[in-house]
Amino acid sequence: MKIPFIDLIKQYSLIKNEIDISIRSVFDKGVFISGKNVNSFEKEFSQYIGTKYGIGVSSGTDALLISLLALGIGDEDEVITVPNTAIATVAAITLSGAIPVFVDIDPETYTIDSTKIEEKITNKTKVIIPVHLYGYPANMDPIKQIANKYDLKIIEDACQAHGAEYKGKKVGSIGDIGCFSFYPTKNLGAYGDGGMMLTNNKNIADKIRLLQNYGQKEKNLSIIKGLNSRLDEIQAAILRIKLKKLDKWNNRRREIAEMYTHLIKNSVITVPKKAVFAKNVYHLYVVRTKFRDKFKSFLESYGIQTNIHYPIPIYLQTSYLDLELKKGAFPVTEKFAKEILSLPIYPELSNREIEYIINTINQFK
Ligand SMILES: Cc1ncc(COP(=O)(O)O)c(C=O)c1O
Repeated sequence: MKIPFIDLIKQYSLIKNEIDISIRSVFDKGVFISGKNVNSFEKEFSQYIGTKYGIGVSSGTDALLISLLALGIGDEDEVITVPNTAIATVAAITLSGAIPVFVDIDPETYTIDSTKIEEKITNKTKVIIPVHLYGYPANMDPIKQIANKYDLKIIEDACQAHGAEYKGKKVGSIGDIGCFSFYPTKNLGAYGDGGMMLTNNKNIADKIRLLQNYGQKEKNLSIIKGLNSRLDEIQAAILRIKLKKLDKWNNRRREIAEMYTHLIKNSVITVPKKAVFAKNVYHLYVVRTKFRDKFKSFLESYGIQTNIHYPIPIYLQTSYLDLELKKGAFPVTEKFAKEILSLPIYPELSNREIEYIINTINQFK
């Protein structure tokens, strides 16, 4: 059996009719930027997550960058986040001119260890970016308490967590701004790049709208310096169709995760734990083992493709060596970078395929 890590062709084949009709209707109307689909999708997605405003942009990276700019973050400001995340989280911070300050991850949830945040706060700290990694909500209550105490803003990196809930609230609606990516492999993915920022604050929403459109209040009238970052009509039309299926798809991901969690029985493999506060959407199902590389090759030899999220902590990437953080600086992140492995998890996996993956894992020695 051959099981790819993700199968976007399989997903498309199941929704082809609806998608083809929606794309054709965009072509038939001839409006490709700032049209009805973007407008409607902004409303539909913000309603789904539970915020007043939604602004579509070109990518999740842009969503994070523009959020920082909208909060007035720039030169020498410090932004707290984790070193175990997509490079994009940190790229956005440095592109804004701010300095990323890392806090190690909690070994139970793989998200920011809130007990280690306060020791990193200085008078330059302005924002905390918790990352809801793998679709698992970060523990937001203590983060909010710290943000209130030190007057900091919270930008949620929800790029991997469309529909995930923290204590009954969808992530992306809890901080000052929530950022999403619609990269094709995400739980809600476009057929190209895309992203969105969500907020309940009108002033922030207005500033974001200006920033993403050259600072223009109206055509040819620019009142602040901005850039061009837009979600386009074709992607919005596709995302509107897919949003209607998101809950069903997330439920199926949870079903697969339950099977993995209960049926993987191998003393050298650790499966993820579930916190009481979390309704995980399992963008990724990440196991751990001291024998990761051997395990990965073993699964590959049985046709099972896996991935690593992420093999190199950001501060050890060549591009961020100027942060002058040495090996050993964040022990949990570094240990996990050597042990983690992401198994295939997507709604279109059949039970037969899942059973095959589980049986293969249980044979690994
Ligand atoms: C945690 C996280 N943050 C940010 C991003 C950036 O999103 P994009 O690829 O749409 O720029 C991604 C996705 O790649 C991500 O997984």
